[in-house]
Amino acid sequence: MLGKYSRLNTAIARQYIQDKGQHLRRKFSSQPQHQYKSYNYKENPIIFNRINEQYVIKGKERVVGWWLISLSASVFSIVILGGYTRLSKSGLSMVKWHPHKVGLPKNNEEWEQEFEEYKQFPEYYLFNKERGLDIDGFKRIYFVEWAHRIVARSIGALFILPFSYFLMRGYLQPKLKKSLFALLAFGSLQGVIGWWMVKSGLVDKNKTIELDKTPRVSPYRLTVHGYSAYIIYGVGVWLAMNLLRRPQEAVINLANMADHASMRKLLLRSAHGILPLILLYGFFTSGIQGRYAVNNYPFVGQNWFLTRNHFQGDIPFWQNFTENKIVVQVIHRTLGTLFALLALKGGYEVYKMKNLTPIARKAYWLILAAITLQICIGIGAIWYPSEIWIPNLHQAGALTVLTSVLFACHTCRKVDPRHMRNLLGKLKIDDPQAYERMMKGFNKKQLSKTEMDAMKKFYEGK
Ligand code: HEM
Repeated sequence: MLGKYSRLNTAIARQYIQDKGQHLRRKFSSQPQHQYKSYNYKENPIIFNRINEQYVIKGKERVVGWWLISLSASVFSIVILGGYTRLSKSGLSMVKWHPHKVGLPKNNEEWEQEFEEYKQFPEYYLFNKERGLDIDGFKRIYFVEWAHRIVARSIGALFILPFSYFLMRGYLQPKLKKSLFALLAFGSLQGVIGWWMVKSGLVDKNKTIELDKTPRVSPYRLTVHGYSAYIIYGVGVWLAMNLLRRPQEAVINLANMADHASMRKLLLRSAHGILPLILLYGFFTSGIQGRYAVNNYPFVGQNWFLTRNHFQGDIPFWQNFTENKIVVQVIHRTLGTLFALLALKGGYEVYKMKNLTPIARKAYWLILAAITLQICIGIGAIWYPSEIWIPNLHQAGALTVLTSVLFACHTCRKVDPRHMRNLLGKLKIDDPQAYERMMKGFNKKQLSKTEMDAMKKFYEGK
């Protein structure tokens, strides 16, 4: 017991010296000086580890975390494979949904039968018949769609089998259990959404209100399918990071906290605002093959930007924003470019933050690198629209941007209020003056409500 408290005091003393030093350095220096020191959380009893309370029992963080990483990596790969399926025009080759069937057709008769069934649908008689698609060509596109479905089911197995094992062994805590059951339900729904999307490509487009009458899946359903894959990926990555990264309390002290809160605010603005919109318009652009609409950037044909002439007057106005190829492409790329500019501006703000932890700073530079790369690939997709590997790479780039944003958000996630209370409470007892000074030093506007509330409670001595 005594040992525990002496360790506690040492930690707080170290913390106090750090904070005091930072206060003085801040006072006498006008240049941004990046200062940071971390705790050793394994030895420090004032660190709370919410993981073991809410996610998994002690000692099982890594096994469950790596399982979630492998699931997210599989979702990453199936998104790329799904993109290739769309770009190689293979997605409508399997005209039935048989979740219980696994293998490819076994012999020539079965292949012929599948091909005959495919011939009944518009993609064949309006498009591929003229191009002279034979049985070998059909086998090629069928194989790609089949692989997409099989990989999807394998991901289902990769989820269910270890999940059941972890449940049986009692590794999982209630909060993670709930999240994983929700993820399982959402993942299963993704299969249904996939078929719902494919079905929309098997109908005669003349009977729909869609603008483009060539056989293809509905861009709206494609957007739902794509978006939910990104959500599943994002949730998986977030949960995995929760388990595999050390508790935030281990890297953050009172001086770091305000800067982390500022960076969090900066990131949440883009994560909740422009990024979801870019992704949405990215899916619309893919769904309507918008990359063919205009192949120069930054200009739009002969113009600097969209003009009134680019809008179609013979369709409902709103449809211009979802199906007019040129409008959708230009909106997507403009949002992407705007995002890059905002991220650059944010980079300057991040540079000025003196008390960020190094990992948070690096995470921000990673976002900038990912966005720059993504913009270059996006431009490539517009300049060379028939090269299908470029849009396929753009999908990998989009997932990388998402990952980097999630990683950065995770590095400056909220601190357990109990940790903050401990730090503040101990400091208030040990050195009331330093405590007062520190409370003034915080920029109250930048702190989250929970952090402010916890501080106020202590400040008022409740
Ligand atoms: C950070 C910025 C960007 C992000 C996060 C982003 C994300 C995306 C996403 C998620 C898609 C849909 C991919 C899919 O089918 O699953 C997409 C498609 C597309 N994006 Fe971007 N994008 C960005 C910037 C740009 C820029 C600046 C351009 C052009 C200059 C561009 C051009 C395109 C094109 C042409 C497509 C359609 C590709 C296809 O037909 O498959 N993107 N983008």
